[in-house]
Amino acid sequence: MASNFSNTTARASTAGAVRSRIVGVGSALPTRCVSNQELALELARKGVETSDEWIVARTGIEQRWLAEPDVSSSMLGTQAAQAALRSAGVAADDIDLVICATSTPDFIFPSTACLIQKALGITGGAAFDVQAVCSGFVYALATADGLIRSGVARRALVIGAEVFSRILDWNDRSTCVLFGDGAGAVVLTAAQKPGILASRLHSDGRHEHILRAAGNVCGGAVKGHPFLTMDGQAVFKLAVNVLNDVARETVEAAGLTINDVNWLIPHQANVRILTATARKLGIAPERVVSTVAQHANTSAASVPLALSVAVEDGRVKSGDLVLMEGVGGGFTWAASLVRM
Ligand code: UT7
Repeated sequence: MASNFSNTTARASTAGAVRSRIVGVGSALPTRCVSNQELALELARKGVETSDEWIVARTGIEQRWLAEPDVSSSMLGTQAAQAALRSAGVAADDIDLVICATSTPDFIFPSTACLIQKALGITGGAAFDVQAVCSGFVYALATADGLIRSGVARRALVIGAEVFSRILDWNDRSTCVLFGDGAGAVVLTAAQKPGILASRLHSDGRHEHILRAAGNVCGGAVKGHPFLTMDGQAVFKLAVNVLNDVARETVEAAGLTINDVNWLIPHQANVRILTATARKLGIAPERVVSTVAQHANTSAASVPLALSVAVEDGRVKSGDLVLMEGVGGGFTWAASLVRM
């Protein structure tokens, strides 16, 4: 990450209210990249018909990164966290809060955040997971911001890490072509100036059935259906509406307007959702960070992965106003407005 971000690390003021600020960003991808063409060939061998043309036209996805069987969310999360710590110039020892957003944890327990904490050699502070599916990273960021502002923590690692390929039904072409694996992370520190200007979180459990992995482990056996199922069109319609609403609500809460936003980083599910959301908000397409072509939908990892790409390629700079948005199972949706 650009060094000017590292230099913004600030100490909380005793005079003013404590706020939080992103001072480092990092990401990690598995080693295996699978193009649409390769996936279509693999699926054809088991009688599942799809094509590069369909996937690109309906979603904008061109490829996805799939974890090898021995790679877990905590491993990808640890790599992303290490990259974020390096970019922030912060030592793992200085972290007193680890929050990992994931729907594909390594274990039932301990939390993936505790496993990442162990892998990083952090022995103090708090660590826990957030489960808000594709809104998870924004939920986790808002939670860490609240804990820093209330004085409970001073330096947090906020991570989104997923191996969604593990919960896909590879015989269901309507879902298995859409997702990938990966992780992204930020370092958030106490600061005099925000940082995180405003966040808004929402959920409406009445829609839980439109996107779910409704299985569990009971008495040593899988109970229910342990694969992702989705009513794609219902999710699509709801997503575009709530992403528009929560973006406006969050920007207004910060006393700013949509015109002030330099970069929109929405959850990366479908390029058509990104385009429709930007159009509704009146944000020019070149101000939207889109990585859905390269990563597919990585659920809670998608927003920090996209942020990391845009910081690394120099689009997102220190001082830019970035609006991050999540939407997904629950049904959940959330936004966070951040001065980088
Ligand atoms: O991360 C959580 C948030 N998730 C999302 O935001 C996903 C939101 N939903 C979507 O992105 C879209 O609804 C999808 C990409 C999932 C589907 O696109 P769609 O334009 O809504 O397509 P559809 O479901 O209406 O399917 C159209 C046709 C169907 O065939 P018929 O019934 O018209 O003959 C499907 O069977 O496309 C067929 N189809 C496929 N064909 C080739 C569905 N999946 C595939 C496939 N390859 N992989």
